[in-house]
Amino acid sequence: MSSALATSPALHQPLAGKAAFVTGGARGIGAAIVRRLARDGAAVAFTYSSSAAPAQALVAAIEAAGGRALALQADSADAVALTQAVDRAARELGRLDILVNNAGVAVAGVLDSFALADFDHTLNVNVRAVFVATQAAVRHMGQGGAYGRVITIGSTNSDRVPWPGFSVYGMSKAAIVGLTKGLARDLGPRGITVNNVQPGPVNTDMNPADGPMAGDMHGLMALDRHAHPDEIAGMVAYLAGPEASMVTGASLLIDGGFAA
Ligand SMILES: NC(=O)c1ccc[n+]([C@@H]2O[C@H](COP(=O)([O-])OP(=O)(O)OC[C@H]3O[C@@H](n4cnc5c(N)ncnc54)[C@H](OP(=O)(O)O)[C@@H]3O)[C@@H](O)[C@H]2O)c1
Repeated sequence: MSSALATSPALHQPLAGKAAFVTGGARGIGAAIVRRLARDGAAVAFTYSSSAAPAQALVAAIEAAGGRALALQADSADAVALTQAVDRAARELGRLDILVNNAGVAVAGVLDSFALADFDHTLNVNVRAVFVATQAAVRHMGQGGAYGRVITIGSTNSDRVPWPGFSVYGMSKAAIVGLTKGLARDLGPRGITVNNVQPGPVNTDMNPADGPMAGDMHGLMALDRHAHPDEIAGMVAYLAGPEASMVTGASLLIDGGFAA
């Protein structure tokens, strides 16, 4: 590689001039995605539900590094609040090119004791909010040939649910596979790609690497460890970037061989 190429800003910041919106960006995988997209040059708005202090700390860290970030409180289960957050992000950042549907909940419980309220909440946050945010975001992405990326964080549990207690969570992530394919068809003519990133175990509050089920999980994997959130953010950055222009409607596993 020539030295001119090696120092090209486009190589170091492939998302320079772009604006992104990430749901649930204050902690866990979402925070890693926010940091990575900002590092790649995007201005990044993100939502939080309850993590106000981590959200403000993340904005401060990105701004200290010379980036642009905006934290907005919006419950993903509230379609009006989520739509307003998308619209405000587009207004304040001046554009919107990338949506990352990351916010999610995992309520475990076997059939006999699973509350209908938890069923509804899981679908509202993990599925309905993805539809709502996508509907709102693409209004800002322009028409034909515009740069547009919609990326959802699904799960390897869309396909494999190797323990009792995860039927509703698995169903919610399986729904994302179909939604991704249909939205890819809807939005392809506008030049907007739609993809689904399916992690296996990732070390976050939702699924700590030292949690009670970690050993069982590792036993099912080709690589017997949890992923670091930054590893998931790397795949999101690829899909968000110009190199992934021909990838759409895809569900991409990043699960250490959990489903192999
Ligand atoms: N960790 C794993 O092993 C794993 C594996 C496969 C897929 N995933 C998926 O990856 C995504 C992120 O998971 P994670 O591991 O980072 O989980 P986490 O550590 O539990 O963080 C969850 C994130 O979602 C946000 N969130 C939850 N409910 C929300 C709501 N009603 N409105 C707005 N934001 C909400 C939280 O925001 P607040 O803190 O502000 O409430 C937080 O930022 C989820 O979709 C999850 O299903 C995780």
